Amino acid sequence: MRGFVGRKLTIVAALMATTGLAQAEDVEVLHWWTSGGEAAALNVLKDNLKSQGIGWVDMPVAGGGGEAAMTALAARVTAGDPPTAVQMLGFDITDWASQGALGNLNAVATEGGWDAVVPTALQKFSKYDGNWIAAPVNVHSTNWVWINKAALDAAGGKAPQNWDELIAVLDKMKANGITPLAHGGQPWQDATIFDGIVLSEGNDFYKAAFIDLDPAALGGDQMADAFNKLITLRGYVDDNFSGRDWNLASAMVINGEGGMQMMGDWAKGEFLKAGKVPGVDFVCIRFPGTQGSVTFNSDQFAMFNVQGEGKQAAQAAMAKDIMDPAFQSAFNVVKGSVPARTDVPNDAFDDCGKKGMVDLAEANTAGSLFGSMAHGHAAPAAVKNAVYDVVTGAFNGTYPDGATAAAALAEAVAAAQ
Ligand code: BGC
Repeated sequence: MRGFVGRKLTIVAALMATTGLAQAEDVEVLHWWTSGGEAAALNVLKDNLKSQGIGWVDMPVAGGGGEAAMTALAARVTAGDPPTAVQMLGFDITDWASQGALGNLNAVATEGGWDAVVPTALQKFSKYDGNWIAAPVNVHSTNWVWINKAALDAAGGKAPQNWDELIAVLDKMKANGITPLAHGGQPWQDATIFDGIVLSEGNDFYKAAFIDLDPAALGGDQMADAFNKLITLRGYVDDNFSGRDWNLASAMVINGEGGMQMMGDWAKGEFLKAGKVPGVDFVCIRFPGTQGSVTFNSDQFAMFNVQGEGKQAAQAAMAKDIMDPAFQSAFNVVKGSVPARTDVPNDAFDDCGKKGMVDLAEANTAGSLFGSMAHGHAAPAAVKNAVYDVVTGAFNGTYPDGATAAAALAEAVAAAQ
């Protein structure tokens, strides 16, 4: 008994020494990781903290993409009682930082040498005014397609490389009696598909439209073409798509009821949870026409200003844990994402994970790595929500054609800025 207590005290003392703070309290964590695959990944983090004597108070707010979570967060911050740590994306992080709501992780970041190992594209959102405000746990990307291998084989066996090949495969899957495109009709999911379509129009176009918010690109011919493609894809979903959660669409592809899903690589977490193997049961490809380019989003844990040394020690301990290379490997293998550090070996990753790591590094070097509009890394929430409205409208038949939708997009984005 004395030995056990002694060991525990040594661990706590070591932790206090490394964080330079008081004994860490439990962490209360707001997140939207509620699907089977997401929960499995979250457990890796919970267990890691538990092994250091730090307890977990769960605050899950379901809803892919995190919109509902961000509403719940605003209520907690307004009430003067922010959670210890919050899963957050891109511009949401820097928006809270600009309001002075976030704490400072510089001590733990300096000790861990984060500046040297976190890609600049991520640091843009993990730092504000030169100070570290969030710890990035992963890099996801949205321009992926997840295909049921047996359904692909029955449709000719060749993964589509461009738009025409994609339509040919979807047509064959339809003729084979399955739902070619498994999709959940929620604005963020519609927008996730649209990231891929816009990127397939070219890197310069994606940047002009979604990063620079150039009105000519937003309202022009290429955007009209992108919307026409989105409207075409609407013809390949089933009648019950509206409101369906993304993981249920993944389940359709997993069980062969659906042919493919266009979704970020968190979908892979669902395939893995179901015991499916890349290359055997499913195939992962970049959205046709986007190989070489990546639209990324990174889940980061932002640490709010909290009162009390125990809470601050918990934040520091959690941030340190998240940035541990072994943890980044273990977590991302389960989550479907790739590490947020450049120095994590790829040994433990499956073929899709290895591809994700190579694609990310190549896109970063080639200048073809862009923030995802659908997942808060291209523009602030007001613009993102304006894009959601028009994209969802287009998917659901609000506009007679792509050109009308493009004009509406340019107008909506201008009004949102
Ligand atoms: C997050 C992922 C999450 C997905 C679906 C994305 O915005 O980055 O971590 O799995 O939403 O919930």
